[in-house]
Amino acid sequence: MSEKIAIQLIINDEPHRFEIDPRVTLLDALREHLQLTGTKKGCDQGQCGACTVHLDGKRVLSCLTLAAQAEGGHVTTIEGLAEKEGTLHPVQACFLANDAFQCGYCTPGQIMSAVSCIKEGHAGSDAEIREYMSGNICRCGAYPHIVEAVKQAAAQMSGEST
Ligand code: FES
Ligand code: FES
Repeated sequence: MSEKIAIQLIINDEPHRFEIDPRVTLLDALREHLQLTGTKKGCDQGQCGACTVHLDGKRVLSCLTLAAQAEGGHVTTIEGLAEKEGTLHPVQACFLANDAFQCGYCTPGQIMSAVSCIKEGHAGSDAEIREYMSGNICRCGAYPHIVEAVKQAAAQMSGEST
């Protein structure tokens, strides 16, 4: 048995300290140690995107990130995206308004990815959105609605930031 290591992370703006086996992924640390179950495991091999979170402001696949690699970092999960008082992030609101999900299992990863896609400046056209959201698989086939949602959210967010 390997020895546990101490990890410190800022998750959704709150500091967390915990001890885990060094083999534990960020995904399992979130889900099984911190009970943040919004981040999903669709494959655990980097192929589906259901586990997408933000690490230090960038989208990452938490199944391919060891919790130890994230040491000292800032992690944002789907649970931390809305405002503290509950106002949805524009991407969340646009996913709802456009029915951009069915079962909801890929949705947290889709939304975290979409926030980054917009921030990276990759929401300029339908084709660009499709390309830069292609790391997130949806077996329910919500893709056309996801593109609409991302487009609308991008428009709203560009209005907000200027
Ligand atoms: S669970 Fe991480 S990419 Fe599928
Ligand atoms: S909404 Fe079901 S997998 Fe995407």
